[in-house]
This record gives sequence, structure tokens and C-alpha cells, in this order.
Amino acid sequence: QSVALLRSTLQQKKSGIGASLKAPVGFVPTMGYLHEGHLSLIKAAREASEIVVLSIFVNPLQFGPTEDLDRYPRDTERDLKLAEEAGVDIVFLPQVEEMYPGPVKTTVSVSGITSVLCGASRPVHFDGVTTVVAKLLNIVQPDKAFFGLKDAQQVAVVSQMVQDLNMNVDIVACPILREEDGLAMSSRNVFLSKDEREQALVLSRSLKAAEAWVREHASFRAEDLRGAVKAVIEEAPLADIDYVEVLTYPQLEQPEAVEAGVPVRLIVALAVKFGATRLIDNTILTLG
Ligand code: PAJ
Repeated sequence: QSVALLRSTLQQKKSGIGASLKAPVGFVPTMGYLHEGHLSLIKAAREASEIVVLSIFVNPLQFGPTEDLDRYPRDTERDLKLAEEAGVDIVFLPQVEEMYPGPVKTTVSVSGITSVLCGASRPVHFDGVTTVVAKLLNIVQPDKAFFGLKDAQQVAVVSQMVQDLNMNVDIVACPILREEDGLAMSSRNVFLSKDEREQALVLSRSLKAAEAWVREHASFRAEDLRGAVKAVIEEAPLADIDYVEVLTYPQLEQPEAVEAGVPVRLIVALAVKFGATRLIDNTILTLG
């Protein structure tokens, strides 16, 4: 579907909406292979907006040369069916040539908060994300855009971009959806073997342990919380830790020692490989 067609369809639908308390256009950007996590964003958009636009685009710009762009799971037919069932009004499904007709000469880059966590392990990743999200926001021009806290750093980075470039859109952060046993939903979960899938439960378990640990420690050093989380993950022999970090959120800075009664918001964020599959998860702790 072309940008021009998307714009004219959207224009037509917008002219049909009457007075409403809802936002005219809500937007959910995805890379497809939809799961309940994506559907929860669509639901939030559906409740808050008159017209819901979903984009499905596996953005080559945000994958490093050694990453899983080629094997990223795709199932457009199933995605379109799920989108329709979830009440999406318009699906924007551009070809790579539509988004990047030639060599990319303009990129959007957020500094500082992109050099930690996933930005440290995936150096080109966030420039690819901010560039494509800026393009998608310019194409769709939504009133609200919905992002999942599964990618909490992405939420912080996109919010920073929107603020710094005065983009006229509300970024809405939505909670992490999990499988019943705790594993955060992800398009990449399909790659896990049975053993890996079982052992991947240490991730959510370690974050639960973090939540319990801070309830027991009124004042602490972030390093000690980090150690406690790491110890749980290391119980799984197949877990190959990329990072486990405790930072302030959304600034993503090293926290001072946490003192009882002093308000601070921390993120415990982790990236762990099981075989060839890299999983991320996090929890945000509001303390004091
Ligand atoms: P993708 O990984 O497809 O995720 C699309 C959106 O779904 C993101 O906002 C992500 O945080 C959210 N999401 C994924 N799993 C979730 C879960 N378990 N619970 C709640 N939300 C979840 O993130 C991207 O695509 C891309 O980087 C994109 C923003 C589309 C730019 O290319």
C-alpha cells in the first residue's frame, strides 16, 4: 500500500467522523507477526481514538548486519485477519522500496539514552527506530501513538524525539503483556526450543524477585539489586546474559544510592540470549 493511498483513505475517513471526545487518529506501529501484546496496543488505541491505523513494516534500518532481519517472522495474511478482528480501520503495509526508495540520506538520531542497554549491544538499532518512527508519524499524522513498555527504552527514545522535534503527537505507553507463565510476549518467542522456552521463565522470575527485593530493602545500592537479579538468571544454564542493568527511568542514568522516602523511578532491564534468540524484559519500580 502506498503512502499516497494511505493518506487519501485516512483523509476520507477523517471527514466522516463527527464531534467526539476521542482522539481522531490513533496509531500503532509494529513489525507484524502480531501477538496479544500488539493486540493490547490496538485495544488501547481503539478505546481512545475514532480511527485506528496499524502499520506493519519490518524496518531493515533498525537491524544490524549480523542480526535477524532475514529470519524475522512474517505472516501478513494472519496479521490482516487479527487486525480486522481487533477493529483496526486502516492497515499501512508499505514495501521497503516505498519507505526507502534510495540510499537513506536523512536519519533521526537521539543521543545519550540510546548508548545504554539495547543501544550498547545494538549500535545502529535506535537510529533505525527513530528514523522509521519519524517517517511513520509524518505519514500517518496521528493524534496519539501507542507503544509497549516491553521496549521501555524505545518508549523513552521515541518520547525524547517527539519532545525535541516538537512533533504534534501524544506517545502513550502501554503495559507489558505476558504469557500465563510470565514470559513477556514477543514475536521472537517462536524461535525458542522447548528447553529454552522453559528456562526463559527465569527472566520474568528475576524481575518478580527484583520487585520483592526492593520491598525488603528500603535503602540500597543499585548494584546490589542488579546482583540479586543476575543471580536468579544465572540459575538457568542456557541463559547467556547480554546485560542486566538498573537505571533511572526514563532518563536511563546510573542511579545514586536509593534512600527510603526519596522518590525515584528505576528500570530493571535485561537482555538475555537463549541459543540464537535474544529476549528482553524489564520492570519499572516507582520507589519512595
Ligand atoms: P514490534 O517489535 O513489532 O513491536 C510493536 C509494538 O508492540 C512496540 O511498541 C512494542 O513495545 C509492543 N509490544 C511488543 N511486545 C509487547 C508485549 N509483550 N506487551 C506490550 N507491548 C508489546 O517495536 C517495534 O516493533 C519497532 O521497533 C517499531 C516501533 C514498529 C519501529 O519499527
